[in-house]
Amino acid sequence: MKNKRQTLPADPQVNQVLTQPCHTQQAKQADSDNQSALQRRIARQFSQAADVYAKHNVLQLRTASMLQSNADLSGIVLDIGAGPGTAFPAAQQVIAVDIAVGMLLKLGCNFPDYTALCADAMALPLADNSIQTVYSNLALQWCSDFPQALAEIYRVLQPGGHCYVSLITAGSLPQLEYLGLRCNAFATANDIDAQINSLPWQQSQIQQQTVTVHFAQLTALLQSLKGIGASAPGPREAAVGQVTDEKSNSNNDGHTVATTAAGLKGRGFLHQLQRRAETLRTDAGLPLDYQVLTFCCQK
Ligand SMILES: C[S@@+](CC[C@H](N)C(=O)[O-])C[C@H]1O[C@@H](n2cnc3c(N)ncnc32)[C@H](O)[C@@H]1O
Repeated sequence: MKNKRQTLPADPQVNQVLTQPCHTQQAKQADSDNQSALQRRIARQFSQAADVYAKHNVLQLRTASMLQSNADLSGIVLDIGAGPGTAFPAAQQVIAVDIAVGMLLKLGCNFPDYTALCADAMALPLADNSIQTVYSNLALQWCSDFPQALAEIYRVLQPGGHCYVSLITAGSLPQLEYLGLRCNAFATANDIDAQINSLPWQQSQIQQQTVTVHFAQLTALLQSLKGIGASAPGPREAAVGQVTDEKSNSNNDGHTVATTAAGLKGRGFLHQLQRRAETLRTDAGLPLDYQVLTFCCQK
């Protein structure tokens, strides 16, 4: 990576928490050696989407504000699946982790003071008990092994430290099903709940809610699904071996939308979809419902 800002700073406080050499390029190489083909596809798609991400991140902004409303985001904040970056005005130092180099390049422009680490949420290159606060907004549903990502959060948190996390769960995007668009399954809220509660947190608060995003047109809705997401399959789809050669688009929440054999390119098919979508229209526009699980835990 050419930009000097992408190298990890010589900040002794940050270097104390790193367990790998402090250079994003090195981290990228090590990371790509270790990443599965699926993760490489996810990383590539998010990298390609980095430039247009800010045009489509309505849902992320909504859930970010839900997460941050009651959070104490001070001290060293670790943002997992940071994307192009989030502002943490009270943080003393921000370490931003993402598997997509393109996202981290964007983050380097948006937040030059952040420490960018190209790494996997399921294998954080950070020392045990080193982080005061972990934040992760709509990223962990991409992990093929959520319990492992959660165990990593627990491992790196200092005793007494907090994590603030949001992710998408089963029951999301029923409108796509109605439109005849096939999509992969998310983990259920009950499963995630059980996985969170299997760790010895001092305290944990878990909430599930529906977040609805509205669009003026079906094309905008579909664009939001592929514009900042990826065409890579979501982890659960891969896990159950349903990856096909069908044209597929997935959104930025780890949700794959596999279109019918006709694909979304055919105009006739698009018109058919548009007619059907209009039956869903409300005063606010065409709705897309997400089930969002947020949790705040103290180690
Ligand atoms: C929907 S974006 C969310 C970005 C940001 N948190 C926000 O609020 O806008 C999800 C991000 O998670 C990253 N991601 C996906 N799987 C990951 C993994 N296993 N480890 C680290 N980052 C991952 C993607 O590259 C992407 O930047």
